[in-house]
Amino acid sequence: MYYGDDLIEEVRMKNDIVDVVSGYVKLQKKGSSYFGLCPFHNEKSPSFSVTPGKQMYYCFGCGAGGNVYTFVMQYENYDFVEAVKMLAERAGVELPEENQDVESRRSADFRKVLLEINKKAAYFYFYKLKQEDGKTGFDYLRGRTLSEETIKHFGLGYAGKYRDELYRYLKKEGYSDEVLKESGLITFHEAKGIYDKFFNRVMFPIMDVNSRVIGFGGRVMGEGEPKYLNSPETKVFDKSRNLYGLNIARTSRKPYMILCEGYMDVISLHQAGFSNAVASLGTAFTSGHASLLKRYTEEVVLSYDSDGAGVKAALRAIPICKEAGLRVKVLNMKPYKDPDEFIKNLGEEAYEERIGRAQNAFFFEIGILESQYDLKDPESKTLFINEIAKKLLNFEEKIERNNYLEAIAEKYNIGTSNLEGLVNKFGLQMDSSTEKRQPMQSSKRQETINAMEESQKLLLTWLIEKPQIYLQIKEHITPEDFQEGVYKTVALHLYKQLEEQALNPAQILNIFQNQEEQNKAAALFNTKLNYLETKQEQEKALKDIVLKVKKSSIDYATKNLDPSDMAGLQKILAGKSMIQELEKLHISLD
Ligand code: UTP
Ligand code: MN
Repeated sequence: MYYGDDLIEEVRMKNDIVDVVSGYVKLQKKGSSYFGLCPFHNEKSPSFSVTPGKQMYYCFGCGAGGNVYTFVMQYENYDFVEAVKMLAERAGVELPEENQDVESRRSADFRKVLLEINKKAAYFYFYKLKQEDGKTGFDYLRGRTLSEETIKHFGLGYAGKYRDELYRYLKKEGYSDEVLKESGLITFHEAKGIYDKFFNRVMFPIMDVNSRVIGFGGRVMGEGEPKYLNSPETKVFDKSRNLYGLNIARTSRKPYMILCEGYMDVISLHQAGFSNAVASLGTAFTSGHASLLKRYTEEVVLSYDSDGAGVKAALRAIPICKEAGLRVKVLNMKPYKDPDEFIKNLGEEAYEERIGRAQNAFFFEIGILESQYDLKDPESKTLFINEIAKKLLNFEEKIERNNYLEAIAEKYNIGTSNLEGLVNKFGLQMDSSTEKRQPMQSSKRQETINAMEESQKLLLTWLIEKPQIYLQIKEHITPEDFQEGVYKTVALHLYKQLEEQALNPAQILNIFQNQEEQNKAAALFNTKLNYLETKQEQEKALKDIVLKVKKSSIDYATKNLDPSDMAGLQKILAGKSMIQELEKLHISLD
């Protein structure tokens, strides 16, 4: 969905940043800003500031910063469009409808109805749990040591013995059979008639990341097959793109997510304080799940069942997670079967301790591999080592590969150079190009780029802090002198605002739709210039920066000049004489 700039700015202006942030963080006024404990990193004394004048926030501890959109994105883990929607709703601004064509309109309406039905069903089951005839369900859940608070937190419920209670309720609510058929909650059977999909089970509503009920899992109370029955996939229920518990886990602010197998595991873990636990929905873990998780975290701690099936599922999930760019660790719950049992028997501290000792996924995989060979037998050991060598090739980064290689060589007493030789042999066999060579100068080039960015950053900061210098330098430095990316974009807009004498930092941030860029831009507006003692010193420092920016801009253009580009050449020459002019220029801070 694309919203126009004006609309985005209107929504931003109608959501005062102090109001919005106050909904999440306790703020205290100090001078012209508000301060509080940063919600984005752990701290004991407040370094998180919100400045109403700029309509921005910034943390001097961790560098998080931005406007009201950035905050909502960062806190709620929303993307930009989701943040716009939420803040528009908060301020009562109406957004244009997403899809205008009839077909997609109809399908959106239909999804809405299905969500409504699922929500009503969830309330219905939840209500039942507290009724006289829901006592079996309630006792079952309490018997599994779930507190009333947990039951409410997860909206657990009960589907009674009668086989059409939900159907009758939903009919009374006015839904047609056509729609109910598509909800997956009612079965229409030619011979047997119409009946509820779930009866005589405790109910686990399944929610999407925005806490909308999209389906259910229902468990038999005691023994019975199937143990869990799940809603079929519907227009709103896609099992491969949702994870149980993620609606809560996504705001848990832990640096990793715990991935386990079952609904009950998630619930037990949350009850024990591990609100970052999630599980797939009675299906295998998919790349869709992995990329969903990647939106919220960098690291996954696998807490799959300890039995053979659990190990197998873990071995499947590891490469899927890695493929999505997640770091993976594997938690050992032995002698217990799953997190639920573990917590019940050993408690949360023991589980926390196991998290601390969770094994790096590579070593876990090697450990499993090892169990398939007899290391006392030279032939078997050779095969095992060959397998290790092949696996090591999966690390594309040489340093990383070497680190693992050394650790493994030591562990199995192989000799680093032997193992290295083997890895290289397989590497050559596979494809000589897998050995990716980095250009020698790349680190040197990076340094130059960093230095260049640093002076550009400083110059932008000066312009923001001391707008009076704008008129003095605008002839010499233009937005074109800035690096492609965040700084150039900021420069373009900043110049425009300064030209119109209407500096509006928060508006500039609207342009960036990803958080990393927003943080980078926000840092510009919150960097305090390291003030030098005298005005002369300051003016000299500023002039140095201006010169640096101009020089690096010309260097850059020179290096990237296409020899046939005459206009480009002219520009470079003009730039060079500009430098001579700049050397003589006096920039005044008055
Ligand atoms: P488990 O059998 O490990 O169940 O299945 P559990 O979560 O530990 O539950 P309790 O403690 O026995 O009550 C793990 C997950 O696999 C799916 C469910 O999502 C379940 O949470 N599953 C299992 C089904 O969908 N159907 C089944 O019949 C069994
Ligand atoms: Mn289990």
